[in-house]
Amino acid sequence: MKRWWLGLLLPLTLFALDGRSVYEKKCAGCHKLYIPAEKLMANFLEHNNTLLHLEAPTVNQLAYRLKQQIGDPKGDKEIQLMEVAAFVHDYALAPDRQKSLCMPEVMAHFETMPSLKGKISDEELEAVAAITHSFVPVRVDVSKERLPEGLSWSLTPTFFFLTADGKLVKTVPGAWVKEDFLQILNEAKGALR
Ligand code: HEC
Repeated sequence: MKRWWLGLLLPLTLFALDGRSVYEKKCAGCHKLYIPAEKLMANFLEHNNTLLHLEAPTVNQLAYRLKQQIGDPKGDKEIQLMEVAAFVHDYALAPDRQKSLCMPEVMAHFETMPSLKGKISDEELEAVAAITHSFVPVRVDVSKERLPEGLSWSLTPTFFFLTADGKLVKTVPGAWVKEDFLQILNEAKGALR
C-alpha cells in the first residue's frame, strides 16, 4: 500500500518546478532579487545609477510595478497572479520597451531585455512569475523626527505614559490585543496616581 502511494506522489514532486531555482538559473544574472525601495529611488533619481550600477530592474522593483499595474490590485489574488504570469511570459519571450511598466527615468538606464525564446519553457516561466508575485510591497511611513522630552524608542508602536508635568511613568513597546492593552492602560493609570 505504501509503495503505491510513493509511485503516485513521486512524479508530482519531480515535475513541480521551483520558481526560485528558475530565477537563479535564468534571471538572476541580470535581475537582482531585492534592494530596498529607498536605495533604488536614490540610485535612479538622484545618482544616475552610479550607486548600484544596475543593468536591469530588481525583482522587488518588478513585483511592485506588476502588482500595481496589472489586473485589479484589490481583486482576487489568484486571478491577478494569472494575469501577471501572462505578462511575464509575454515579456520574457518578446521583450518590448513599449510594453514596459517601469518608470521612464529607470528604463533610461537599461538596454532592452534580450528575448529568452527557446531558452526557457512555459512551465519555468509560470514558476518564476510566482516569485515575482510573492513580494508584498509595504509602504513605511515613519516620522524621523526626534521625540520631545528626551523620549526614545526602538519599536513601532511604542506607548509612553507621562504625568501632566511631563514625567515618564511607563514605556510599553509593541502592539497588543485588546485585553492586554486594557490591562496595560489600567497599570499605567495606577502608576500615575
Ligand atoms: C541578459 C539580461 C536579462 C535576463 C537574463 C533577464 N532579463 Fe528581464 N530584463 C532585462 C532588462 C535589461 C530589462 C529592462 C529593459 C526592458 O524592460 O526591456 C528587463 C525587463 C524585464 C521585465 C519587464 C519589466 C518592465 O515592465 O519593463 C520582466 C517582466 C522581466 N525582465 C522578466 C524576466 C524574467 C522572468 C527573467 C528570467 C526568466 C529575465 N527577465 C531574465 C534583462 C534581463
